[in-house]
Amino acid sequence: MTGAGSAGHELRGVAMAVSAPSSGDGTAPAVSTTGTSPARDEVPPAPGEGQPLVVVEDLVKYFPILGGVLRRHVGDVKAVDGVSFSVRRGEVFGLVGESGCGKTTLGRSLLYLQRPTSGRVELEGQDLRTLKPEELRRMRARMQIIFQDPYGSLNPRMPVLDIIGEGLLAQGVKNSKERTKRVEESLEAVGLRREYTRRYPHEFSGGQRQRIGIARALALRPDFIVCDEPVSALDVSIQSQILNLLLDLRQDFGFTYLFIAHNLSVVQYISDRVGVMYLGRMVEMAEVEELYEHPRHPYTVALLSAVPQVDPARVRRRIVLKGDVPSPVNPPSGCHFHPRCWLRERLGNPEICATVDPRLRLVGQGHAAACHFADRTQQEQERAAIPISGQV
Ligand SMILES: Nc1ncnc2c1ncn2[C@@H]1O[C@H](COP(=O)(O)OP(=O)(O)O)[C@@H](O)[C@H]1O
Ligand code: SF4
Ligand SMILES: [Mg+2]
Repeated sequence: MTGAGSAGHELRGVAMAVSAPSSGDGTAPAVSTTGTSPARDEVPPAPGEGQPLVVVEDLVKYFPILGGVLRRHVGDVKAVDGVSFSVRRGEVFGLVGESGCGKTTLGRSLLYLQRPTSGRVELEGQDLRTLKPEELRRMRARMQIIFQDPYGSLNPRMPVLDIIGEGLLAQGVKNSKERTKRVEESLEAVGLRREYTRRYPHEFSGGQRQRIGIARALALRPDFIVCDEPVSALDVSIQSQILNLLLDLRQDFGFTYLFIAHNLSVVQYISDRVGVMYLGRMVEMAEVEELYEHPRHPYTVALLSAVPQVDPARVRRRIVLKGDVPSPVNPPSGCHFHPRCWLRERLGNPEICATVDPRLRLVGQGHAAACHFADRTQQEQERAAIPISGQV
């Protein structure tokens, strides 16, 4: 075993990669499962030697719902419900899933921009829960975020010098000459001119504004950057420029990214490994080629079947999911995906899907899926698919 496991760095409370799944809870399945669900997630370790840069363990973020005149706690939005993964230094970990599945909440909670309800986040072995406010502030400089909306995230009343310089000031760069120099260097690093320091956000195009957002993050020379849908609001023609810029910056500065997107083609282009989220949970995780070529969770299969393919030999038949994403306030019992699952339907609606929560279990080298029947997915998917018009 490599990575986190071999470095003696164990995800406590989370079973790390092992060769065989542990036993489930004994509930008899209606049809035999192809591997019983372990009691806890089996998380594939980040590839490579040594300690991962970021370790997230069983992260939970609930938003309380208060009701009645007494504003009593009547429930929770379970936005992130026990997510574990690790990211090695220099890696791009992509995170995909439909809108509302908890991607932004996961990104913000792991940066402690909003305090997690429970769970653990480590940066280079340092548990963020144990940090005093001043230490956390310093640690934040090492973990930055780039937002989806390049206009909304830049204060329209501030010149670029102050927008980018603000974070430097907060981190103690008090000398204004030094600050200006660092802002100018950051602008140059993202392909903008040094003179732009005096301009305001409205004087830039969407692509340029996103470059300013990136310059603001990199000015602090972070180790880890959460990119939350950084190209979703941009024209397609600009998207690839920004993706290539992010990859160049990783090369030049050694950045590590958590790259969030709902567009699977974008994630495929930029990521080394990918995690798929559904209703606050990680349902599949693998290296990018493996995930896109051999998806094992029926949800991933359905998402990928909707991605347009240029190469006719690779065109997949479309699997259309039934209904909408259920509410994260009352997620379905057992497997959260069961009311929409095409695989369950093909297998004659086995009871276990509605009663036993499937945790991530290893289904291949560095590949985990949270499905009782992950070994049946590939065999069944051709038969479940409907031809897209014009295809056989
Ligand atoms: N501050 C909040 N208060 C209450 N619910 C929230 C809050 N932020 C997000 N949510 C809810 O949490 C769920 C996940 O949201 P989000 O993380 O934004 O998903 P995504 O980024 O995948 O679209 C959604 O149901 C959303 O409505
Ligand atoms: S993904 Fe489908 S087949 Fe797998 S456990 Fe969930 S409902 Fe059952
Ligand atoms: Mg989001």
